Amino acid sequence: MNVMLLGAPGAGKGTQAARIVEEFGLVHLSTGDILRKAVADRTPLGLEAKRHMDEGGLVPDEVVIGLVKERITQPDAQERGVLFDGFPRTIPQADALGEALAQSGLKLDAVVSVEVDPEAIVARITSRRQCRACGRVYNTVTDAPADPTVCDECGGEVYQRDDDTEAVVRKRLAAYEEQTSKLIPYYAEHGTLYTVDGNRAPADVYSSISTVLREIG
Ligand code: AP5
Repeated sequence: MNVMLLGAPGAGKGTQAARIVEEFGLVHLSTGDILRKAVADRTPLGLEAKRHMDEGGLVPDEVVIGLVKERITQPDAQERGVLFDGFPRTIPQADALGEALAQSGLKLDAVVSVEVDPEAIVARITSRRQCRACGRVYNTVTDAPADPTVCDECGGEVYQRDDDTEAVVRKRLAAYEEQTSKLIPYYAEHGTLYTVDGNRAPADVYSSISTVLREIG
């Protein structure tokens, strides 16, 4: 089964992804995580990506598509299926993903759109923290680690992402509205779109998502 989580920045994609991969055993493919690792490793790709990420814009399609194609052809992705988190984000990315999956005789089985009121997004993101080692997502208001800088689960460093400032979040939201939200009618037309209300508590959001995935799985 191949599934995509679609939603605005801060909609809760990463939070839900952790639960989904645990229950359904899918390979978690987050283009944001891959790009942040490239930035941290100071690779040429990371240096190029950082410019766009710091400004709240999207990294060029050809860069991201290349990364995803490389990952989905690996044996674990082919055998277990993939949870796409933050990809595709544009129509060309969606077309490229459909073609790449078809080449392996696969398809995107479900696109789950997590919908959250825009006013809630800025507060969620500016209070987000994340573990640099295991990726666990925290929130200083609703889900803080016992020690603000240490991950409860692995002891790694808990930090704030460079692009989680209010000014950059507003630009990321604009990029979502201008480009990524066009994928909602795109996938509705392809018959794979499921919509869930992301304004509820994480466990309630997950209950809706897991119901969909059990039905199609
Ligand atoms: P990416 O890392 O994909 O970021 P994003 O899409 O902006 O999403 P976020 O990670 O900010 O939010 P989320 O939905 O995962 O929310 P989370 O669960 O953490 O991309 C970053 C950048 O990389 C992009 O701007 C772009 O430059 C580049 N990029 C990545 N992919 C690309 C692509 N395909 N093409 C081009 N460029 C690309 O939750 C947020 C907070 O809310 C947390 O604190 C959490 O605890 C809290 N929370 C979660 N759920 C709930 C809930 N139900 N109720 C209350 N609080 C909640």
